[in-house]
Amino acid sequence: MYRTHTCGELRLSDAGKEVTLAGWVQRARKMGGMTFVDLRDRYGITQLVFNEEKDASLCEQANHLGREFVIQVKGIVSERSNKNKNIPTGEIEIVVDALTVLNTALTPPFTIEDNTDGGDDLRMKYRYLDLRRSVVRRNLELRHRMTMEVRRYLDSKGFLEIETPMLVGSTPEGARDFVVPSRMNPGQFYALPQSPQTLKQLLMVSGMDRYFQIVKCFRDEDLRADRQPEFTQIDCEMSFVTQEDIIETFEGMAKHLFKELRGVELTEPFLRMPWADAMKYYGSDKPDLRFGMKFVELMDILKGHGFSVFDNAAYIGGICAQGAAHYTRKQLDQLTEFVKRPQIGAKGMVYARVEADGNVKSSVDKFYTQDVLQQLKGAFDAQPGDLILILSGDDAMKTRKQLSELRLEMGNQLGLRDKNKFACLWVVDFPMFEWSDEEGRLMAMHHPFTHPKDEDIPLLDTDPAAVRADAYDMVVNGVEVGGGSIRIHDSQLQEKMFEILGFTPERAQEQFGFLMNAFKYGAPPHGGLAYGLDRWVSLFAGLDSIRDCIAFPKNNSGRDVMLDAPAALEQKQLDELCLAVMQKEK
Ligand code: AMO
Repeated sequence: MYRTHTCGELRLSDAGKEVTLAGWVQRARKMGGMTFVDLRDRYGITQLVFNEEKDASLCEQANHLGREFVIQVKGIVSERSNKNKNIPTGEIEIVVDALTVLNTALTPPFTIEDNTDGGDDLRMKYRYLDLRRSVVRRNLELRHRMTMEVRRYLDSKGFLEIETPMLVGSTPEGARDFVVPSRMNPGQFYALPQSPQTLKQLLMVSGMDRYFQIVKCFRDEDLRADRQPEFTQIDCEMSFVTQEDIIETFEGMAKHLFKELRGVELTEPFLRMPWADAMKYYGSDKPDLRFGMKFVELMDILKGHGFSVFDNAAYIGGICAQGAAHYTRKQLDQLTEFVKRPQIGAKGMVYARVEADGNVKSSVDKFYTQDVLQQLKGAFDAQPGDLILILSGDDAMKTRKQLSELRLEMGNQLGLRDKNKFACLWVVDFPMFEWSDEEGRLMAMHHPFTHPKDEDIPLLDTDPAAVRADAYDMVVNGVEVGGGSIRIHDSQLQEKMFEILGFTPERAQEQFGFLMNAFKYGAPPHGGLAYGLDRWVSLFAGLDSIRDCIAFPKNNSGRDVMLDAPAALEQKQLDELCLAVMQKEK
């Protein structure tokens, strides 16, 4: 037997027992005639003690242990004189009688402790060592518990877990596909699924009624902190349901996860906000509602007073940061620089402070009387000590998005985005389509299978851009943790949708014939949702990036630096696949 106990298990009540432990040497230190070793495994750390007086040769052996050596020890559990309150095994130590080195180790390239000296790239290259650190391992443990709770909840609601293929066909809508060449069908390619969307709809046609899958999805898109090229969805679909049924089921699941994994009881129904309001008041379809700073439109108050920037603007809007009037000139200049960064793109920022006597002082005082500035203050119900920040622009949507970035930045600066506070909401009534400048046509905002709101169906012929969809996203703390919709189950309506999206009937048939044909064989009304598992875990673990809750993630350029992938293929493989590689011009 390699071990009788794990390194996280022994307590004072075990004192006197003879035990065998196995694990990794986290560190060894010699103090006088004693050598102390911290022995680590997945479950914790236990202190080992070697006493020179008792057994000099054993102690000598211990003095030669290097970091990360794999060892086995036999000894007696004893009460520690110098207790460590920070770890559960801190009241005991093992007085060692026998030591076996099971494997030696090279000196690791970074220190394998919670506060490591390893930079990001190094830790990714040696991810298997990084995963030995308890801070990283805990995220994987949380991820495991979450998938267990998801399965428990969905099973209790009658969902069947069904696997769908990873080698599917490429679809034109959505992000770019990752493609896989087929050796047996030269010149032809599979695509890896961006989501099992159409397959889960086919499962509803099959009568599976309630489906779920914890499934890898692949999207070739630019990476951000909350995006990976391969990520995991908790993908679900239900038959004979309305939007209300779906919201109830998955709000129930969210509450179950909060309770089981964070010990947070959410008793109130989640807030619901139409997409149009989210954009109008927060400039974002995923507003962070842990704090206020709702936008106020200021066109009526600030236009027409001779300040040309505002006079020529299509939108003027502001936020009120409570208690931030103390911001110095330097801090305000930094905020202006922040909104002017190319990623945000504002031209400038105007501010107004409400002073202790109630007067308002602004950066554009010479254009506005105190009377107008008082109206400005009134629009926000601002109080002495508050700071009003204003942006304007010639495109209302763009300016709102810029103001949204400023709002989030102020939320950060004022400490209003507490990771232990949760604000959950449903954003509903998304537009069916959005205009794509790149494509020069309307694109489906969610996907082409989304059902338009019944009352908006007549607008499909007259004003498609105004059509709203039965689509909903769940947003927690400004993160889109999931989204879904009621689907079209009528082949004619689906054909019409493809027509609006610019597909010829032939192309629609070629790409989506399998689905439209299936709908002719008795498709039930259905709808569903997919949660982003990585985003939920990182939210619950308080992480800044989803990378830290993925065992082997990709870096920002989409590379796996440990496996050194992607990489070139050997000529033999290319030949088998009938592929030739072109050199990209620099
Ligand atoms: P959607 O594209 O909104 O919907 O994706 C659902 C959820 O998946 C997560 N997600 C991601 N997580 C990490 N990295 C990514 N690159 C990434 N992309 C998406 C998000 C998102 O809310 N088939 C539909 C769902 C449906 O209609 O049922 C779909 O895929 O949390």
